[in-house]
Amino acid sequence: MSKLKYIQDRFATDIGAPDIIIRVPGRANIIGEHIDYCGGSVLPFAIEQSMYFVARRRSDNIINVKALDVDEEQDFLIGVESDHSGWRSYFSQAIRIISADYSIRGVDIYFASDIPVGAGVSSSSAICVGIIHIIDRLYNLGLTKNKMVDIASQAEHGIGIRGGIMDQYTILHGQKDNALLIDCNTGTHSLVDISSNPYKWILLNTNVKHELANTPYNNRRGQVEEALEIINERIQSRKTFSQVSNTDIAVLYDKPLLQKRIKHVYTEILRVRQAVNCITDNNYSALGTLLNQSHKSLSEDYEVSCKELDFVCNELSSDSQVLGCRMMGGGFGGSVIALVQDGFDSLTIEKSYHEKFGLQLDVISVSPSDGVDII
Ligand code: GLA
Repeated sequence: MSKLKYIQDRFATDIGAPDIIIRVPGRANIIGEHIDYCGGSVLPFAIEQSMYFVARRRSDNIINVKALDVDEEQDFLIGVESDHSGWRSYFSQAIRIISADYSIRGVDIYFASDIPVGAGVSSSSAICVGIIHIIDRLYNLGLTKNKMVDIASQAEHGIGIRGGIMDQYTILHGQKDNALLIDCNTGTHSLVDISSNPYKWILLNTNVKHELANTPYNNRRGQVEEALEIINERIQSRKTFSQVSNTDIAVLYDKPLLQKRIKHVYTEILRVRQAVNCITDNNYSALGTLLNQSHKSLSEDYEVSCKELDFVCNELSSDSQVLGCRMMGGGFGGSVIALVQDGFDSLTIEKSYHEKFGLQLDVISVSPSDGVDII
């Protein structure tokens, strides 16, 4: 039975007819990692693997949520703050932010997911976007997609992650067959058609799980902000990350750590531009090379990879069926994204990964899908 059917049946038995059913996708990112919060452009797409929410209005001020995958339940009282962890914290922060500005009432929600949790494919943003979308629809708030992006990212900031807008934006704006070239400075995007890609995208989930709030994610953001501030002081300018040049970065000669952090941002911004050209020119082998370079930069200059992600990328690099690969998402665990030939067989790497780390490597295919849908 599909996840969606399962939730619908459970909801119908326990509560009755729903007012709304939505599908909220996860996201993959071709390239443009750890630059969304620097105002860079990124190139992600929404994936088919999704979270499903079934919901109905209540007449009181309780938002009751059942997480069917883990068989847990929580009541959130609108207007009353309480401390939560795990999936509950995303609901609670999103409800806190939305109810501060809008008058809302209670909801019963059941949800379950095909998106692997902690795999760097944005299960946390899917929760935030899901609850915001449901409340918007049920209580006619009239929120624009960009307003929802804003509320969802504020909710994640409330949990302690100073993230960018890539995940929430992709989940809301995703379009089948297309990657989104998101300008994170202006909060706008253009579509990059990847339907003629003769290869396929796969994600290899290391099962090294993480909650970004407990990783040095914020530290990296702090370091590049500091690097930019020092550069601007020294060159007496007010450049943004996207305007910084190699010569500007050279002025950080006495701060090697900050220098390599901002070098990642600089080179990754360039790689995104080149990647779009590769796709437009149908030059997928050059795109693969950019993915490999991105991984090296994330691993060596930005230091947000881990031994498991490095191992997977290293093994894949000697496989002639693989055009390129890199760690994806916030890092410190999660997944590798790889561009592979149709005939790629993941058995060898699954086996060697398990032998090396005693962990399972879960491999799934992903393709560009639509953003949030009302079913
Ligand atoms: C996480 C954050 C995003 C982005 C990526 C790294 O997924 O939520 O905003 O910064 O990490 O590219």
